[in-house]
Amino acid sequence: RLATLRLVAPPSCLSSPSLKGGTYSLASDLPAASTPPQRVPKHIEHFSKFSPSPLSMKQFLDFGSINACEKTSFAFLRQELPVRLSNIMKEINLLPNRLLTTASVQTVQSWYIQSLMEILEFLDKNPDDFKVLGEFVDALVTIRNRHNDVVPTMAQGIIEYKEAFPQDLVTNQNIQYFLDRFYMSRISIRMLINQHTLIFDGTLNPVHPNTIGSIDPQCEVGDVVQGEYELCLLIKPFFFLCVSFCAGKKKKKNLPMSIVYVPSHLYHMLFELFKNAMRATIETHDKSNTLPPIQVRVSLGDEDMSIKVSDKGGGVPFRRIENLFSYMFSTAPAPQIGEHTRPPLAGFGYGLPISRLYAQYFQGDLQLYSMEGHGTDAVIYLKALSTDSIERLPVYNKTTLKNYKVSQEVDDWCIPSKEPLDLSICKVPK
Ligand SMILES: Nc1ncnc2c1ncn2[C@@H]1O[C@H](COP(=O)(O)OP(=O)(O)O)[C@@H](O)[C@H]1O
Ligand SMILES: [Mg+2]
Repeated sequence: RLATLRLVAPPSCLSSPSLKGGTYSLASDLPAASTPPQRVPKHIEHFSKFSPSPLSMKQFLDFGSINACEKTSFAFLRQELPVRLSNIMKEINLLPNRLLTTASVQTVQSWYIQSLMEILEFLDKNPDDFKVLGEFVDALVTIRNRHNDVVPTMAQGIIEYKEAFPQDLVTNQNIQYFLDRFYMSRISIRMLINQHTLIFDGTLNPVHPNTIGSIDPQCEVGDVVQGEYELCLLIKPFFFLCVSFCAGKKKKKNLPMSIVYVPSHLYHMLFELFKNAMRATIETHDKSNTLPPIQVRVSLGDEDMSIKVSDKGGGVPFRRIENLFSYMFSTAPAPQIGEHTRPPLAGFGYGLPISRLYAQYFQGDLQLYSMEGHGTDAVIYLKALSTDSIERLPVYNKTTLKNYKVSQEVDDWCIPSKEPLDLSICKVPK
């Protein structure tokens, strides 16, 4: 802790949080530090008026560099975390009432309120006090642990809601829109918490001494691919993988391909894609003695680092592709909460949507290209340059409100009739 406090060069991200539609000093409008539960809605109102401040990979690295200052990071997080929490808490309240009132969603909401209150306790504490800084790290660890089961708990709420009420297109769209933003916000909050706790708990990562918190400034994508594939083999042995690498024309061939990235995010995405590819291959070739290999191609260009996972597992009809990213179309039951056994080959249908969020979090994407009858290519797009890798964060504003209110309008494309057309009938007005 002493070592990290020596130099006090604030990273460039430490401007005051900006009020939506203009800049504003937070300090002048701070609510009282004591936070009895009945004051929480006021705090949410207050902090949701500010836009979250997206950090770039460079800013994350600055926080953890030799110039890193725990005090600065503390001062940033005690404002930024309430802003991110409050923005998404405003959106939770826009969920359909019958979903909002399920026991599971109520539980999740109570975790958010509790965590917000715990961070607000630090608003009037002295950043020069070592004890305060230590308590802050402990509080963040408690908050991270509290939120471990948010995804399965929320999924449970969706299942309860789906079973109890008929669904309509607008509600489904709203829930999809909400969950994408809610889980993205969660990824970002965990990233901030992880960086602070890993960097300032005073210990070096013995396995990866060069990592800065959870970021590897030289993340070898090929090594991650190989490592993740070997992990999948523990679940389904006897598989075969072909990996090929290529570099953009300006880059020298056969050089290791590395980017500044969070290896755990990449592991998560590749694990999901490998499981899907393996499952499709096994199910399509269950009668043959050999299985066609899964091929991975990694390509580094000037702008993109792309990773393609190709299988010959029979593919998916084009019409179904978008549904594969839907939280509402999942059919499998949610895994038991708190279950930490070996992961199954297929989960509760969240593999693709959550992986896509991880890719999008630093301005990348994940897309599926499939040929029914043949196989599927899943491509992860990441930014090659750390200057382009900037957090993509949801913000609660008037547009958000409008997006939740979209009503089901009449389609302006004709719906083909299933009946044979009787050309003798005269036209009737719409
Ligand atoms: N490579 C693939 N080939 C064929 N179908 C796939 C492939 N990847 C995904 N799918 C289909 O998409 C569905 C959703 O995938 P995912 O989000 O990973 O959830 P899960 O694997 O838990 O069902 C799978 O159940 C499967 O039907
Ligand atoms: Mg899957």
